[in-house]
Amino acid sequence: MSLTREQLQEAAEKFGTPLFVYDADRIAGCYRALFDFIRYPGLKIHYAMKANYNVHILQLLQQLGASIDAVSPGDVLLAQRAGFPIDRILFTANNMTETEMAAVHQSGVLMNIGELSRLEKFGRAFPGSRVCIRFNPDVRDGDSAKTMTGGDLTKFGILLQEADHVRDLAARYNLKVVGLHEHTGSGLQHTESVFQSMKNLMAVATPERFPDLEFLDFGGGFKVPYHPDEARVDYVTMGAEITRLFTAFCRSYGRELGMYFEPGKYMVAESGYLLMTVNTIKDNNGRLIAGCNSGFPQLIRPVLYNSYHHILNLGNPDGTPHRYDVCGNICETGDLFAEQRELPEIREGDLLAIANAGAYCYSMGSCYNLRPMPAEAMYRDGQLQLVRRRLSNEELVAQIIGESLCPR
Ligand SMILES: Cc1ncc(COP(=O)(O)O)c(C=O)c1O
Repeated sequence: MSLTREQLQEAAEKFGTPLFVYDADRIAGCYRALFDFIRYPGLKIHYAMKANYNVHILQLLQQLGASIDAVSPGDVLLAQRAGFPIDRILFTANNMTETEMAAVHQSGVLMNIGELSRLEKFGRAFPGSRVCIRFNPDVRDGDSAKTMTGGDLTKFGILLQEADHVRDLAARYNLKVVGLHEHTGSGLQHTESVFQSMKNLMAVATPERFPDLEFLDFGGGFKVPYHPDEARVDYVTMGAEITRLFTAFCRSYGRELGMYFEPGKYMVAESGYLLMTVNTIKDNNGRLIAGCNSGFPQLIRPVLYNSYHHILNLGNPDGTPHRYDVCGNICETGDLFAEQRELPEIREGDLLAIANAGAYCYSMGSCYNLRPMPAEAMYRDGQLQLVRRRLSNEELVAQIIGESLCPR
């Protein structure tokens, strides 16, 4: 566990539930560990802020020297407001509009383009610019079919076989291709996939085809265990192989390039918990149902990806184990965090903690059923602080009415 039971209880008592709690020291530790695993001098970590864009997390990583993987103009703006200079932001576009392309380009942020037609439009609009190209690594891996981004079944990246077409388009518009990028998927199950995707990208990155390269970006996807029985990846061995492969590539390319990775999940998943209180216990002919004061709009991964999230009963850790459906407060039958999960006896009023709630939980959240998102709190150097408050119902409703442009 990243935070202790006492720390989580303290946070719930101080700020109420539902509540996200993060461990800033762990996030900093994850960032630093990557430089121990991958001992390549030109390593840069572009934090995938889609995983968790809490401003305190962004500022922490900014101070540590991280860069940013941004995927929308909103991401770019927030990263800048959090203190990231434009040369530490890479914008990985995905089906963007003309307006978005112009706005981001004018901000000076480097654009990562993954479609031939977009590259052509970019070249026509901004000839002579620097650009990064996203290739599809042609490797399928990830913790869910919905998070696998490689292979020609997905919408992401330009196919490797079109590398010469990219070269020709770049030449036509005098574009300087300074970076090549790939992202294989989230929660990569096999380290071999990381190596294969690297090899596939490096194979198209020849000095003849792309003479102006400054970096290769190998995306995110570093896996963390979600289940207590799941093995932790041996990142020391994996990092050594990554360094070996890239050093050999640079030798054949003719000079040392930057090596970028874009982890999101690895950086923040295990640092976070969602705390919630059990309001109702039901016994439906022997099927026990624990009803909590949160719901799937606040932590959607089990519903969306069928993901396992470990749950702790902090209120009664030594209780006799029973099987429970742990569900939320949303008007949908599928509103479940866990189905038939064995947990120490849950009583009304018990505090539950959902683990690995630091990545793709708050950031994927919504106010569906008009329940405001939980507040967020953070431990840093042992000190607990509120880092984002919860909107009141009044504020949420006022926002909706304001956005509806209706007369009051
Ligand atoms: C382009 C890109 N980079 C990085 C990431 C981060 O992935 P992860 O959080 O699994 O490290 C993603 C997420 O899917 C992504 O789409």
